[in-house]
Amino acid sequence: PPPPPPGPLSDDSSKLVHDAAHPYQPLRHGDQRGPCPALNTLASHGYLPRNGVATPAQIVTAVQEGFNLENSFARFLTYSTFLVNGNPLTNLMSIGDATSLTGQNPPKPATVAGLDTHNNCEGDTSMTRNDAFFGDNHSFQEDRFQNLVKYSKKYGAGKYNYTVAAQLRKFLIQDSIQRNPQFTLVSPRLFTAFAESVFPINFFVDGRDKSGQLDLDTARSFFQNMTFPPNFHRRAGAVSNVGQDVVTDLMPNFKPGFNARGVNSFKVDPTSATLDQPCVRYTNFVNKNIKSLYPNPTGNLKQALKINLQYLYEATVASGDGCTQVFPYGH
Ligand code: HEM
Ligand code: MG
Repeated sequence: PPPPPPGPLSDDSSKLVHDAAHPYQPLRHGDQRGPCPALNTLASHGYLPRNGVATPAQIVTAVQEGFNLENSFARFLTYSTFLVNGNPLTNLMSIGDATSLTGQNPPKPATVAGLDTHNNCEGDTSMTRNDAFFGDNHSFQEDRFQNLVKYSKKYGAGKYNYTVAAQLRKFLIQDSIQRNPQFTLVSPRLFTAFAESVFPINFFVDGRDKSGQLDLDTARSFFQNMTFPPNFHRRAGAVSNVGQDVVTDLMPNFKPGFNARGVNSFKVDPTSATLDQPCVRYTNFVNKNIKSLYPNPTGNLKQALKINLQYLYEATVASGDGCTQVFPYGH
């Protein structure tokens, strides 16, 4: 059975993480990298297996060790992506594309296609990756990074901060509504979109720098080059999505939804959880998303799904959300 994820770090102070034991190494043929600049960087420095295929416990360990992500947040993010994009039979997930390195797949309609999979955690309005409608949803795009540069110059005196994060997120949503006929921003992607806007400030700023301002060379180092800057120290103290309120405050009337009839036809989706409904998110995710991928699992597969769903639920409890547990595969 899949082992439980690690607990919090015993010492979450700032420290050098770009150290001699974790040098950057370039990709080898077949190594997987994907839409998440943090996981890409952790793999390229050996905090995750360098081939980009990892267990949930390895991912939780790596994001805590390398960036000081808060434990319950790390667990929720990891198990919610693993349940859709990972292989419950081998306990392995690709941080990029589908690969045979994750082993023999469970039966369809399960997908097990890695973090590049569209419309779970990965979705539209990314800062540096294109919407899936335009083709490649996982590679760094210079023109999108230039939006981040432009907004940092306009609202942050050349640095990326919470004010910039809010303005850029608002722009990216408008931009996708206007250009992507298949634009959608509903749960669960809704939650990752808003959290990711503040992640660069919370985690990519060196731990010795308390300014809350991310310089653009450092941003490029992570987003494009998958590399810790020289001498990079992780932040002091575990944290999750602090500052996200600055982003949501700029868009008080935004509701999850999608373009219903081509570009500029945004329609609210009343079935989606909103950002202040974490338990609707949890319940729908389990009963709809997971159940549709695994309608009738048996044997080892069923057992592994139940355990991973248990780890997901325990993360919601640890986050203080107080949701009622749901059991799609029995107790
Ligand atoms: C984006 C997964 C941890 C920073 C993403 C995306 C995925 C993902 C699937 C693509 C979403 C999209 O933009 O469409 C994960 C998982 C994690 C994790 C499973 C495990 C805990 C982190 C951490 C950080 C981080 C610790 C920061 C240190 C980001 C950022 C983006 C992103 C900034 C947005 C990229 C962009 O918009 O261009 N992540 N992530 N992630 N992730 Fe992670
Ligand atoms: Mg995306």
